[in-house]
Amino acid sequence: MTPATEKEIVKLPNDQDASGRTFGAEEIAAVTDVLTSGVLITTKGKYGKMLEEEFARKLGVKYAYACNSGSAAVHVAIAAINPNPGDEIVTTSITDMGALTPIIFQGAIPVFADVDPKTLNVTAETIERVLSEKTKAIIVTHLFGNPCEMKAIMELADSRNIPVIEDTAQSFMAMCDGKYAGTIGKIGAFSFQQGKQMTTGEGGIVVTDDDEIARRMYLFINKAWGYGDPNPDHYFASLNYRMTELQAAVSYEQLKKLDHSVAQRQKMAALLDEKIKDIDGIESYKPVEGSTMTYWKFCLRVDDTKIEDGSVGLSKALKTYDVASAPRYVVKPAYKCMVFRDQNTFGDSHYPFNLARPEAVDYNDDNFPGTIKGLHDVLVLPINERYEEKHIEFLADSIREAVAQVKK
Ligand SMILES: Cc1ncc(COP(=O)(O)O)c(C=O)c1O
Repeated sequence: MTPATEKEIVKLPNDQDASGRTFGAEEIAAVTDVLTSGVLITTKGKYGKMLEEEFARKLGVKYAYACNSGSAAVHVAIAAINPNPGDEIVTTSITDMGALTPIIFQGAIPVFADVDPKTLNVTAETIERVLSEKTKAIIVTHLFGNPCEMKAIMELADSRNIPVIEDTAQSFMAMCDGKYAGTIGKIGAFSFQQGKQMTTGEGGIVVTDDDEIARRMYLFINKAWGYGDPNPDHYFASLNYRMTELQAAVSYEQLKKLDHSVAQRQKMAALLDEKIKDIDGIESYKPVEGSTMTYWKFCLRVDDTKIEDGSVGLSKALKTYDVASAPRYVVKPAYKCMVFRDQNTFGDSHYPFNLARPEAVDYNDDNFPGTIKGLHDVLVLPINERYEEKHIEFLADSIREAVAQVKK
């Protein structure tokens, strides 16, 4: 075994700077075009519309509306469903906070479903356990580029007539039984934040095939102003969630590179999988039957009966090879965050939690065994479209050597 200190370190492309991103002459030309035109607002410019049309065409949906973050995209989706205060929205105990707080801002109660510890995704079974008469929608997050079991989830949701919102922020172009993630439920919400499969720094987009939902989403992004209507008004409470033309120009060019981004991630992930599959004590995440993964990150399950200090121990060992990894992903389940635990919302009202059924906000760990186990075991490794074989070889060797260091 080569000690980390003697090993030649290969610097891995980082999605937080140019080394791991694909900005080039195309994005620069598009941004220059916007600035030269002097039109920076998407209600007047061309790039916002071009992005929306192209995104909808690529996913095979009727409508796509750009907005200024993935959090905004989730908020727009919830607002389109239009819950009454105190209605329940089933979501996951493991996701980005941007997928959760919009529920509160629309006056609904987030009801957390447990996850499968092998994927950290919700399942039909974990969702069914927390459905109630008050469930107004289900939000599924396809984590790490790995789709949830959509066939079973849609069967359940359809049988109860509950709309499904797919948070596809991390899973652009992942497939579920021949359809793209984000196009299976009523609404798909995406994020173009810095580290995603395509990016414009901060940005997002929502998609749907439903005419009424589309209208409400468009309005919610645009202060509910009826642009082009005979008697326009501000029809309901909403916000300005518009993307700028500068963001749209970059996203439009990034969208042209999305297929390459996804294909390269898949190719490199397959190579890494192959190289580490025989290592005892770790196991990579696998898609459910009928699905494909698009690898926002590359995740391992670390067996702490075989590896000293489990995912934390392996992460520390990998650091000696200059490989940054994240044990426990978001570190703790969402329901343990102060916003939910202490119901820190509007003034001292605790609204909307003051409207909740006690069972809906029972945040006892005993209700979330999959969440506790899954977070304990997961180690999130970096990957992006700039990875080449030399990076994967270095990463695989580093993992092998790091595991040997911390093997029990
Ligand atoms: C699954 C998921 N949902 C929602 C969001 C929120 O997106 P944004 O950071 O663009 O607001 C993110 C984070 O980027 C995410 O990973």
